[in-house]
Amino acid sequence: MREVSNNLSDNTDNHFLNNNPNNIVLKDSKLPKPPSVYQVYVRSFKDSNGDGIGDFEGVTQKLDYIKSLGVTDIWLTPFYKSSGADGGYDIVDYKSIDPTYGDKEAFEKLVREAKSRGLNIMIDLVFNHVSIQNELFQRALNGDKEAQDCFFFRKGKGINTPPNALRSKFGGSAWQYVKELDMYYLHLFAKEQADLNWDNPKVQDMLQDVVNYWKSLGITHFRLDVINFISKGDVTVEVNSENERSVYTDGPNIHKYLKEFRKRCTQDGVPIYLIGELASPSLENAVKYVDPKNEELDGAFVFHHLKTDYKDGKKFHVKENNIICQKGIINKFLSAVSKVAGNFYLVFDNHDQPRSVSRFGDDKKYRYESATAINAKQILMRNAVSIYQGQEIGMTNVDFSKVPFDDVESKNAIKALISEGYSEDEAREMVSFHSRDNSRTTFQWDNSSNGGFGDYDPKDVKDTQSVIAPKTNPNYLTINLKADQASEKSISRDTSKLIHLKNHSDLFSYGEQEILYSDSNKLTAFKRSYGSEEAIVLVNETSEDLTLKLDLSEYKVLYTNYKESEQMTYGKKPTLKPRQVLVLYKNNE
Ligand code: GLC
Ligand code: CA
Repeated sequence: MREVSNNLSDNTDNHFLNNNPNNIVLKDSKLPKPPSVYQVYVRSFKDSNGDGIGDFEGVTQKLDYIKSLGVTDIWLTPFYKSSGADGGYDIVDYKSIDPTYGDKEAFEKLVREAKSRGLNIMIDLVFNHVSIQNELFQRALNGDKEAQDCFFFRKGKGINTPPNALRSKFGGSAWQYVKELDMYYLHLFAKEQADLNWDNPKVQDMLQDVVNYWKSLGITHFRLDVINFISKGDVTVEVNSENERSVYTDGPNIHKYLKEFRKRCTQDGVPIYLIGELASPSLENAVKYVDPKNEELDGAFVFHHLKTDYKDGKKFHVKENNIICQKGIINKFLSAVSKVAGNFYLVFDNHDQPRSVSRFGDDKKYRYESATAINAKQILMRNAVSIYQGQEIGMTNVDFSKVPFDDVESKNAIKALISEGYSEDEAREMVSFHSRDNSRTTFQWDNSSNGGFGDYDPKDVKDTQSVIAPKTNPNYLTINLKADQASEKSISRDTSKLIHLKNHSDLFSYGEQEILYSDSNKLTAFKRSYGSEEAIVLVNETSEDLTLKLDLSEYKVLYTNYKESEQMTYGKKPTLKPRQVLVLYKNNE
């Protein structure tokens, strides 16, 4: 038996545990804990050589910092040679490294240095599609029939008419015409990203070979991009906007392919850890993917709870977040997955999402409180943890009236909105809140030039052929890691302590979870219980005081983002301050 306070980092502060005479009891549990992840968007994390673009050496320099957060894994977003159409998710050569990020030696050094600190490097495998500059696709374009069978080439329905009405996730038709072949190829994402045909065993062989290659470099943890799209039904069947997803989401052979793939990639006896990104899976399928007895995925990212501020399901038609609905979805997914003891990673931030503190919090008046409340809620729920770079210091959205959009999805969306009749200003304004560019700005290390990201004059920075140089949010002068660490109200310190707490406690890793106040649109609240231990997490989702009728007198405070001295006592009618998170603990032993 150990006390949690001994395990937490050395910094003590007013916000954590100090005044807790009954510190949470941690057991040296035999149960394995799922990896906790820190996501690094390589191009914007840290630039070591002053070219204005992040690189491997930059990540290596920051390993001690990442380690201090308490995570076990660093997920690197794609760093391979790419055609630069979708932030590296359009891979030209799966076994290559884009020289912008460094060379093989720099990669191996990063892996080695990470390992020496007990950190795994998790790489991002984009296996649903490949860049049209990839050699295989080029062969297909040159008329090689065997190569064409590795993709979805189909005749049009008539002149200038694609095979059906399937739409790309980034707008427009999912079919691109190739004049020389008089055929269309399928691309669910950008036209530079051709979908691979997993029904062809050659495709599976090729991808298995890619995994083997990276395993030979010591990598065993992988993130699988939009992995529930890899098995397609009839791609030319008549579809409309209502039913088109069924053609490629959780497709007919998906479970079979994932099982076989894992088997084949572990023939060498070296286990792997696979986290799949799941795009709009059904609940039933999502659970199947991570059910350990199925041996498909070890964990999965699911995002249904991040669509509760979409109006009519449309990403760029923003409405106020529906907290009741968001909690309902989270609850539905987490209770289903807990029954099979699988791992969901329910994130609030990643490179595809705007910044959570701006989206769901109050990033002006209560930035520290909002960010810590969101992070505590995410970390202490019954799910595995994945934190996106900058989330741990409360980095915010960007003001796009001052900087241009870079992302293919945002640019296409603006064009589409203009063609629907919106003015350019209206379209830009609509896209700005949910644009993926919000999260792709440089990490804000300190208040020196470029926020300490790199030593260069922004005027001199050039995009490379495949990598767009990242922008820096001008608010780095006040929002940055150094300032955060120096502050009494430190988001990163609190976040790291919460991650340590999660990693060392069965209660927060495995405890049952019950949602409280499910019909409140002002409060997120849940109870965790494990054996004799119990915790209650309360989050005030508003920027006003919130009084509850709830008897908390038997509980001790484990964490809150307000100073104890500012607190009410938590008796029978506790009042939560604006954006307050309160974590309470009781041991019924
Ligand atoms: C995933 C990635 C996203 C990318 C898409 C297509 O959703 O996270 O960034 O655009 O797949 O590869
Ligand atoms: Ca660089």
